[in-house]
Amino acid sequence: MSSPPIPVSSGEGAFDPSVRWFQHAVFYEVLIRGYNDANNDGTGDLRGLREKLDYIEWLGIDCIWLLPFYPSPMRDGGYDISDFFNVSPDYGNIGDLVGFLEDSHRRGIRVIADLVMNHTSDEHPWFKESRSSRDNAKADWYVWNDDDQKWPDARVVFTDVERSNWTWDDNRQQYYWHRFYHHQPDLNYENPEVADTMIDLVRFWLDLGFDGFRLDAVPYLYQRDGTSGEHLPETHAFIKKIRKQIDADYPGRILLAEANGWPSDVADYFGEGDECHLCFHFPLMPRLFMAVRREQRYPITEILAQTPVIDEGSQWAIFLRNHDELTLEQVSEEERDYLIAEYAKDPRMKRHMGIGRRLAPLLDNDRRTAELLYALILSLPGSPVIYYGDELLLGDNIYLGDRDSVRTPMQWSPDRNGGFSQADFAQLYLLTERRALPVMGVGEMEVLPCANPSVLAYVRSGDVADILTTPPSKSPAVSVDESIDELDWGRSPVLARTVPAGNESEGDEVVLRHQAVLCVHNLSRFAQPAELALAKWAASTPYEVLGRVPFPVITDEPYTITLPPYGFLWFDLVPEERSVQE
Ligand code: NOJ
Repeated sequence: MSSPPIPVSSGEGAFDPSVRWFQHAVFYEVLIRGYNDANNDGTGDLRGLREKLDYIEWLGIDCIWLLPFYPSPMRDGGYDISDFFNVSPDYGNIGDLVGFLEDSHRRGIRVIADLVMNHTSDEHPWFKESRSSRDNAKADWYVWNDDDQKWPDARVVFTDVERSNWTWDDNRQQYYWHRFYHHQPDLNYENPEVADTMIDLVRFWLDLGFDGFRLDAVPYLYQRDGTSGEHLPETHAFIKKIRKQIDADYPGRILLAEANGWPSDVADYFGEGDECHLCFHFPLMPRLFMAVRREQRYPITEILAQTPVIDEGSQWAIFLRNHDELTLEQVSEEERDYLIAEYAKDPRMKRHMGIGRRLAPLLDNDRRTAELLYALILSLPGSPVIYYGDELLLGDNIYLGDRDSVRTPMQWSPDRNGGFSQADFAQLYLLTERRALPVMGVGEMEVLPCANPSVLAYVRSGDVADILTTPPSKSPAVSVDESIDELDWGRSPVLARTVPAGNESEGDEVVLRHQAVLCVHNLSRFAQPAELALAKWAASTPYEVLGRVPFPVITDEPYTITLPPYGFLWFDLVPEERSVQE
């Protein structure tokens, strides 16, 4: 009960910079190329994406994360950028992007961009100039060396395709440094011009209206002798510099760190509340897949026990799948073998150190398991990130090279090529339920002991500040476009909304109450009973959140719940006095 009242991110408060919207947001990761093709050239584009905003809004998404949309030779899915300050002509132009941002904001949906600061494409004009001689204006913009022996402790990320982090350049007669593919030279952050240009870049896209960034490959910005070159203090100092700009000039915008590491290392990217707002929780992800296959909760509970408590202004970002391989970097060798044996039966499914498959095929297209996994990422501590297409169990294509196996085009209808018509989809109803339960955002988590190892039960709880109000007033816009202030920022008017205490306007009635949500998940393919010790909530009535059906009142005795195969139930625990009124 020590944490502050819990706000909710939707509604009019969404664009109030003092609201920590990202702690309650559901993120949606979108590959423009694969989403919707408006000009029928076979490649998805910004106009096509904008046309689908009705769908994204209907799905209940709070924030879209756009995968790289910059000009690129596309040798690494667009993470090989040849112009940081532009939009790839394949997707449209800056005007299309602004139109998309404004339309999203109008609907109360935020948008963050992928920011790739670590490297460029070798086709970037900066690199072309840098490699042209040893004394040109960009000579030190990249990391050059006479031999390839420097920094032997720095690991190679794509071990299956790259043998070294150094590649020889015939022109300059030197080696250049790259953490990823050899065609992606790393920028040299020791050069203040590079660091300053990256700050300009951040400001450029924020001025255009983006709500923040996913920071790609952020642990590798600097190198230093005698280290692995990961998570260096210099790197943290540079991220803090970016955060300072945001806090000073762009309040309410966010930084989300992509640092694939152990939670205790990754938590450093939150800083003291002065670095990233969110960090991906990579090690949780393979353990969710392990838990459902082993039909046991311990892979999940073990990693949660090793996850440090984070600052109240920070948040984990949790996910099932993304645009990369299902990475197995953060599991033991034995666990890796197990996951490959279970989930990559055909060797063609393997990619780098992981598995190149989408959610549905991984789960043998079993809808129950998919819904169970969604129930987990929507209720475990953290903000969920959904990979486009996985909400409707989109397939993959293991015959496509590299990570393209999971970057399959969205299917909008059963027609040829997946169609481009308006279609009706199975609703991901839990997104809406989650919004009504703000404790799912930053509420405390108490795992409940349970003799049945297949059952994972926990309570999320915290103080919620409900504000009863008439349709709320508009919030300030974050876009540079002044005209957008004139637009209606809200979703449908609501009678009760939840915002942080202290943010209410005059005349609002604030009602503080404790919210507790019991989440019970069956990780087994068979029906299972669970006996839970719920005495702490004695005299409360558990209301099942989807149907609002009251279950028997909790007493001091063990509480028995029966779950169907891969079933889950969420209950709003309503204390006696409130349940009498309901
Ligand atoms: C991380 C991205 O998610 C991945 O797709 C890419 O290959 C590497 N960064 C290198 O940019």
